[in-house]
Amino acid sequence: MNTRRFLIPVLAVTIALAVLHGQSQSPPRQDYDLAYIGPPLADPVMQHSKETYVLFGCAYCHGMNLVARGEATDLMHSALVGRDENANLIGPLLRAGIPQTAKLSPMPQFSDLSNAQIVDITRYIHYARQLGRYKELFEAKALGSGNAATGKAYADQHCRSCHQGVTDLSQAAKKYSRPSLTAKMLHPDFLDRPASWKLDQLHDTTTAEARQRHAHLLENYTESDVANLLAWLESLK
Ligand code: HEC
Ligand code: HEC
Repeated sequence: MNTRRFLIPVLAVTIALAVLHGQSQSPPRQDYDLAYIGPPLADPVMQHSKETYVLFGCAYCHGMNLVARGEATDLMHSALVGRDENANLIGPLLRAGIPQTAKLSPMPQFSDLSNAQIVDITRYIHYARQLGRYKELFEAKALGSGNAATGKAYADQHCRSCHQGVTDLSQAAKKYSRPSLTAKMLHPDFLDRPASWKLDQLHDTTTAEARQRHAHLLENYTESDVANLLAWLESLK
C-alpha cells in the first residue's frame, strides 16, 4: 500500500486543525522542540507568554529572540515597540494587520487574538527586547567616548525626577567600577527583587513605576545616550 498518499492528507488536516485550534482558544501547553524554543524560563508567566508568541507564529517571522528573518520588522529596534506601554500600540496593530506595500510583504491580521493573548505576546516581546538591548548596549564598543555635558542634559530630563539632584547617582559612580556601573545603570538590582507582599508595601506604586521607567529606558537608550550618561556619572566622582 502506498502510505505516503494516505499520510500527506492526514498531516495536512492535523496541521490545519492545530492552526484553527490555536487561533480560537488559549494555547494548550504542549511538548515542543527544545532546540527551537529553548529551555523553559524560570518565571512560568513569562514562559507561557513566550509559548503564546511562538504559537501564533510571531517567532517564525520576527525571530525567537527578536532577530528578524526576511522582511519582518526588527522588533528589537522598532521605535513603535519602544514606545509601546502595556500593548497600547502593539495590540491595535496586531488586530488590524499590516497591508502589503510596494516594498514590503504584508503582516497577517490577528483579528481574533484575545486581550489576554495580546498582553502575553507583548509581555514576551518587551522581555526579549530588554535582554537583547542589555547585551547589545553592555558590549557596545564606543561607551568610552561619551560627552559629560550631553549626559547631564539627558539625565536632567530622564533621571532627575527620581534621582534627586545628583546625590545618589554620584554615590553609585563612586561605588562601582566602570563595567558594574554600566550594568547597574542598564539594569539596577532592584528590578530582580520579587515584588513585596508586606502589608505596608503592597501599594508601593513608586517601585512599580520605577521598574516600568527603568525597563522603558533600557528599551530606548542609544549607544551614545549610555556613553554620555557614563561620562557624566564618572565626572561626579
Ligand atoms: C508572515 C510573517 C509575519 C508574522 C507571522 C508576524 N509578523 Fe509582524 N511583521 C511582519 C512584517 C513583514 C512586518 C512589516 C510590515 C510593514 O511594515 O509593511 C511586521 C511588522 C510588525 C510590527 C510593527 C513594527 C514597527 O515598528 O512598525 C509589530 C509590532 C509586529 N510585526 C509584531 C508581530 C507579532 C506580535 C506577531 C505574532 C502575533 C507577528 N508580528 C507575526 C511579518 C510577520
Ligand atoms: C521613576 C523613577 C526612576 C527614574 C526615572 C530613573 N530611576 Fe534609576 N532607579 C530608581 C530606583 C527606585 C532605583 C533603585 C533604588 C536604588 O538602588 O537606589 C534606581 C536605581 C538606579 C541605579 C543603580 C543604583 C545602585 O546603587 O545600584 C542607577 C545607576 C540608576 N538608577 C540610574 C538611572 C539613570 C541614569 C536614569 C535616567 C536615564 C534613571 N536611573 C532613571 C528609580 C528611577
